[in-house]
Amino acid sequence: MKLLRDNARTVVLTGAGVSAESGVPTFRGGSDSLWAKFSPEELASIDGFMANPTLVWEWYSWRRKLIGEAQPNPGHEVLAKLEKHLSKFTLVTQNVDNLHQRAGSEQVIELHGNIHKNKCLRCGRPAPESAFATDQIPKCSCGGMIRPDVVWFGELLPEAALNAAIVAAGSAELFMSIGTSALVFPAADLPVIAKRRGAYLVEINLEETRISPHADEVFHAPSGEVLSALWDQIRVDDKSRPNTVVD
Ligand code: OAD
Repeated sequence: MKLLRDNARTVVLTGAGVSAESGVPTFRGGSDSLWAKFSPEELASIDGFMANPTLVWEWYSWRRKLIGEAQPNPGHEVLAKLEKHLSKFTLVTQNVDNLHQRAGSEQVIELHGNIHKNKCLRCGRPAPESAFATDQIPKCSCGGMIRPDVVWFGELLPEAALNAAIVAAGSAELFMSIGTSALVFPAADLPVIAKRRGAYLVEINLEETRISPHADEVFHAPSGEVLSALWDQIRVDDKSRPNTVVD
């Protein structure tokens, strides 16, 4: 792919599709997707949590278990290798599943939080690890209920993460939008920001999205397969260069 082998500022935005090959259900697309079976208003909003905290807590416990049992797939692994291989690489994810980190990515901008973290609804303090062990909603020392530290509908994204992502997108020379429906804002603006500022825009997704018409290159195939093929190509190209070592 154009630019991927060069010293270009490369930014990758990932969504749930990147973890689909690990067996983690996506939110949209197909009858097995989460929002086809469950209500985002009930399970991923502050109003839903206040109406039925136990239901929300149990749903997140179920997802945390499913995600904990999943393994990073070749797509996550290639992105971790790209971080080490490219000098100017930024990974931004909407995923809360920690699979990028488990694959070895060290610098991950998490726009929607992390399902393995909890915080107090009242004072915002992070909850201790022991909060995971219970089926009951744990309470903070301030008396507030503990909730998952993920972004729910209607909530603001973590400011530092969003700012870092916007800055990276604005200066990207290569921007790859991978496994996201690009329907949830402000994350969905990032590929457009990058394109408007002159980035070469690549999309990897099983289907057309609202990003596809703007993309310079589109791969309609599973992200693990496409990323593995791109990595193989980098290795071939690097080996043909003198004095280059690739792992
Ligand atoms: P979605 O579930 O909306 O979209 C997943 C995308 O991945 C779809 O466009 C699929 O076509 C594509 N896809 C599925 N399997 C794939 C594969 N193997 N390879 C490549 N693409 C594949 O997920 P997101 O765009 O991440 O927000 O959703 C954005 C946000 O909506 C999530 O972060 C979550 C959700 O509500 C919050 O929880 C705040």
